[in-house]
Amino acid sequence: MAIEKVTEDKIREVLHEHLTPSAHITTPERLFGRGQSLTQIDRALNSSGRHVFVHGDRGVGKTSLALTAAYLEQPTASEPIYVVCSETTTFPDLIAAIGREAVPLSERFEADGTPRELSAQAFGFGAGYKQRGAPSIAIPSPADMNQAIDIVRFVRERRGAGTVIVIDELERVRSDETKSQLAEFSNSLSSTVQDVKFIFCGIGSTVDALLGAHRSAFRKIETIPLNRLRHNELWRIIETVSTKLGVEVDRETLIRIGQLSDGFPHYVHLIGESMFWAAFDDDKTVKRLAARHYEAGVKGALERTEAEHKSAYQKATQKSKNTFDYEMALWAMADKSDTRRALDSIYENSYKAIVRRLPLEDEIAPLARERFNQRLHNLRKESHGEVLINHGSGWFSFRENIMRGYVRLVAENRGVNLAKEHYIPE
Ligand SMILES: Nc1ncnc2c1ncn2[C@@H]1O[C@H](COP(=O)(O)OP(=O)(O)O)[C@@H](O)[C@H]1O
Ligand SMILES: [Mg+2]
Repeated sequence: MAIEKVTEDKIREVLHEHLTPSAHITTPERLFGRGQSLTQIDRALNSSGRHVFVHGDRGVGKTSLALTAAYLEQPTASEPIYVVCSETTTFPDLIAAIGREAVPLSERFEADGTPRELSAQAFGFGAGYKQRGAPSIAIPSPADMNQAIDIVRFVRERRGAGTVIVIDELERVRSDETKSQLAEFSNSLSSTVQDVKFIFCGIGSTVDALLGAHRSAFRKIETIPLNRLRHNELWRIIETVSTKLGVEVDRETLIRIGQLSDGFPHYVHLIGESMFWAAFDDDKTVKRLAARHYEAGVKGALERTEAEHKSAYQKATQKSKNTFDYEMALWAMADKSDTRRALDSIYENSYKAIVRRLPLEDEIAPLARERFNQRLHNLRKESHGEVLINHGSGWFSFRENIMRGYVRLVAENRGVNLAKEHYIPE
């Protein structure tokens, strides 16, 4: 057992506290590189009637930013309200869910565990309220905008002034009606309930991409675009842990982890977990992490990465007998961090160079340009999981930028170092 003065309990505690590959962050000490965004949200929420819209790539840290901001704004006595959209979410569902969040679980159920009767009376609308022993506080679905606003007033009454409500994963909402109702709602809120604050989050490079025609309806909202984290910010995730454990991580390792994860913290947390455990499990006493620990980190990250990225990669590459061709096409695509890449550069600068660098056992003759183009075009198709998007005139991008990191991990684990030259200094 081999990091000096570090017991199993200690490493468990440190990793649990600082590495959260699949959990949101809720405190500013752990939220690296987002100071400016936190300030922007704070100012927006405290200027009258403004709500906030955080948008960006999947996995870039939207929910973490929204929740951290919400906890900072929220009066200390209570927690922010957090609701997530789904494909079938309707506007009344969403507002009822917000109302329910303001009611402690213990009050939402009868003593025997059954949900309480819906009470419409508490809000002064509807009928069908059944008197029971205890007053019922289950939340009815609002039938119109005024009732929706009443529910927000109820939340404010329960949770106090300054309550923050986070509505997450707005990109999932399919119905146009729901979107326009939400827009109307957020506008009328500003003039009716001043001291409840909303943070919306959704995937989209622009708010227009996310809301389409409904964008202009969200008038009193400040949009916060969230970019990928910079390398030095990614390094701090690892450095916080290495400092606490008293082991050194050299600069090259940090740089490589930054390059692989491509600004997406999920991968840094994952690599970190397996890498530090590998050091702890080492037979020798480890003062400074070695290549073998880093390699274990990459391997572990691949095994434990979120299932959706794994299955997207498999779907893209494993539906044909030319699996390796498709893998190589993805590797070539992921070799540079530009969001959009031209076919010419993918083939000439990345693909050819990767073929030359293949380990001996994988040595192949490069595909002719035409063949390679075909592979790349197929990767846009449903049969290959639509992992790429073609923007016309030979320009391609990944459908989800977070995929690039996973592709780099796969290649790294197979001995092919992608994106090596893309070192971004602090
Ligand atoms: N600023 C940050 N610093 C360090 N880790 C972060 C940061 N933002 C997010 N993370 C981590 O990245 C992962 C994805 O974050 P999340 O907030 O779920 O992203 P999104 O909501 O955009 O999909 C989580 O594991 C989270 O712990
Ligand atoms: Mg999220």
